[in-house]
Amino acid sequence: MSRRVYIETVGCQMNMLDSELLAARLGEIGYQVVDERRKADTILFNTCSVRQHAEDKIYSALGRLKNLKEQRPGTIIGVLGCMAQREGETILRRAPHVDLVVGPGRIVRLPELIEQVARGEGPLVERSLDRRGHAQAEVASTYAQLDAPRPTELRPGTHQAYVRAMFGCDQFCTYCIVPSVRGPEQSRPAGEIEREVRRLVDQGCIEVTLLGQAVNRYRDHSKGSELRLADLLARLDRITGLRRLRFITNHPKYMTDELITAVAELPSVCPYLHVPAQHGSDRILRRMNRGYSAAYYRELIERIRQAIPADESGLGAAVTSDFIVGFPGETDEEFAATVELVHWARFKNSFIFKYSPRPGTQAAERLPDDVPEPVKRQRNNALLDAQNAVSLADNQRLVGRCVEVFVEGPSKATQKQNQHDPAATPDRTTPDRTTLAVLEADRPMQLVGRTRRDRIVVFDAPRQLIGRLVPVTIDKADACTLFGTI
Ligand code: 5AD
Ligand code: SF4
Repeated sequence: MSRRVYIETVGCQMNMLDSELLAARLGEIGYQVVDERRKADTILFNTCSVRQHAEDKIYSALGRLKNLKEQRPGTIIGVLGCMAQREGETILRRAPHVDLVVGPGRIVRLPELIEQVARGEGPLVERSLDRRGHAQAEVASTYAQLDAPRPTELRPGTHQAYVRAMFGCDQFCTYCIVPSVRGPEQSRPAGEIEREVRRLVDQGCIEVTLLGQAVNRYRDHSKGSELRLADLLARLDRITGLRRLRFITNHPKYMTDELITAVAELPSVCPYLHVPAQHGSDRILRRMNRGYSAAYYRELIERIRQAIPADESGLGAAVTSDFIVGFPGETDEEFAATVELVHWARFKNSFIFKYSPRPGTQAAERLPDDVPEPVKRQRNNALLDAQNAVSLADNQRLVGRCVEVFVEGPSKATQKQNQHDPAATPDRTTPDRTTLAVLEADRPMQLVGRTRRDRIVVFDAPRQLIGRLVPVTIDKADACTLFGTI
């Protein structure tokens, strides 16, 4: 039976990629992937466990589907991803109308599982082995990944793609649930990654972002000797037509000089490094089990600044970070050290999170969540203000300059405007999409793109420029966005 599937995704880029690959696989075997819940007879949530809030939102979304399930009992409801791995049967207890619970390492089995549920064999729970109580290799073998070719229209943009370099994580930062839901760290063989990137470039892709939870720990031993991320970048850099190569997320501890040099020297590799510091105080970094000190992190920033010199606007490599505020025991002075680090390091931007205890992690088990919520909120805002001041000042240095922009697509404003104008945003399922695209190709609209240093630029241009690299002169800037003229 042909089913119509809707996939709703939250969380990180790894989840986006999983959903994309899943949609491609389902499409290949005759499923129709639809873009609205109401058109679907199979509704899948690809979920995140990194903070409690993300899980709460999924539970309320599931709650809202109860009526739908009563009205249309044939509808299959599935929970996939990190929360499925963490919660397992608990999801069925809290939301008995759910049919499928599938961990991120088992999504490969989804087509069969949907068939089983359709035959009346549900509800089903399919998870990878728990890391506690099983040998690493045994656990690793229960984490399989979809890494398949996929049609261009399923990617974030026709000209850009995420490619998995690694999955899993062995770092065990005390706050983080990822090692237990995404399993042991595993690198894909370089040959496989290279083939995938070549195929993407042949399809017109010019920007590739390699993904891994600690991507700079990438190691391929499949050919005898050890190949690291810097070597992989050098191999991919040789692919003609690949203009922008990026990789996320880096762990500060494994940021070698070889890797920084590769970023400085390889023409396709963007001078953009996401290297989360998480905190500015040594005591908290120790409690987080991050394996480095604040001084080490500052030296790292200096190494990056030295190897990748500033351009004519005075801006060097764009470094971005994640921070957790309100970690157990965080004092005002310790928080102030984080604010100081943000001012000193001049991050391009930072993602700031209030600490959320995750059951099963060391922090949740051993350290009381003792920073009151209002204090967490206030620190979150204060750190955001500090980061915004830095981002604004640095963005303003680009006013009057011309930057190379990779045009990603219509801006958010354009997308909103076009929501009720079907000709402007062709439905993925509309067969004559090419005709529509040609008709509107010349009409200028507000587009959005990124510089090589990952700065967001908004400007008016015809949509046929989507997927191209264009020069844009910056007219004005706020903390998050540059506005320019092509
Ligand atoms: N609470 C708050 N933030 C967290 N992160 C990871 N675990 C937690 C947690 N328990 C943040 C980290 C990480 C980002 C993806 O999410 O900053 O880098
Ligand atoms: Fe969420 Fe982390 Fe899982 Fe990504 S890997 S979906 S951020 S818990």
